[in-house]
Amino acid sequence: MKIRKAVIPVAGLGTRFLPATKAIPKEMLTIVDRPTIQYIVEEAVASGIEQIVFVTSEGKSAIENHFDYNFHLDAVLKEKNKVTLGEEINNISNLIDVVSVRQKKPLGLGHAIWTARNVIGDEPFMVLLGDDMVLSQVPCAKQMISLFEQVGESIVAIQRVPMNQTHQYGIVEGEDDDRERTVRITRMVEKPAPGTTESDMAIIGRYILMPDIFNILSTTTPGHGGEIQLTDALLALTKKRAMYAYEFQGTRYDAGDKMGYLKAIIAYGLRHPDLGQSLREHLLEVTAAYDPS
Ligand code: G1P
Repeated sequence: MKIRKAVIPVAGLGTRFLPATKAIPKEMLTIVDRPTIQYIVEEAVASGIEQIVFVTSEGKSAIENHFDYNFHLDAVLKEKNKVTLGEEINNISNLIDVVSVRQKKPLGLGHAIWTARNVIGDEPFMVLLGDDMVLSQVPCAKQMISLFEQVGESIVAIQRVPMNQTHQYGIVEGEDDDRERTVRITRMVEKPAPGTTESDMAIIGRYILMPDIFNILSTTTPGHGGEIQLTDALLALTKKRAMYAYEFQGTRYDAGDKMGYLKAIIAYGLRHPDLGQSLREHLLEVTAAYDPS
């Protein structure tokens, strides 16, 4: 069972980033020189994914256009003899096969994933959430696919978070497995009220899911926040077959949050081959000279 397809839900309104996201999708906000969604797609491609399913909504066509061939731009760059830039732009559209499906109502993450059921069909697949950017030596999705090749069951990526932040995440509870960094899930809950879980294992936006999830999602009722939650459907799936949590190696940035987004810009900027050194020097300079008055 090879993981060939990935679902990336991009239908959200991006209210946390208004007014920046009034006229452009939040997934098109830039980190150094690429929109955040391109990093997510590149992670999928580097992990062996062959097809991406975007779950979109009104006003998200910039994402589809970004991964499409732009005839006009290509012609202009050729005319101006900007060969390297032209190739770089065309490479984005050659990255991967992209399909879009529309989520007609904002009913939650579980509903967004369910919307992709006909394109996915009856095979295990990956889900990547665009807000979660992971910097790592081996792409996070690839680490999970390696584990999937051993266990052949659903996997959610997790990271340990401070106990006072557990209410911001889906939280899993479980028992240590023989495999490294792996836990066999016994229970999971979406955004638990403070003090109602002893686990610090938070779900991060990378999942490998068995296709059984679609049947479960079709009857999952609204949960936390009145939305159809993927976590609730996953809990139901654990009653039928094994599911694992995997503590990935790498650093995750929540690019859907203003502070997380700024941290991601700095982290990716520092690693940029042309800009990293100058940015490091600049940050040292401004931090030393900073005067809050
Ligand atoms: C979603 C999931 C949650 C997970 C989080 C990770 O929540 O529902 O379980 O912990 O992504 O980023 P959201 O942040 O979309 O509210």
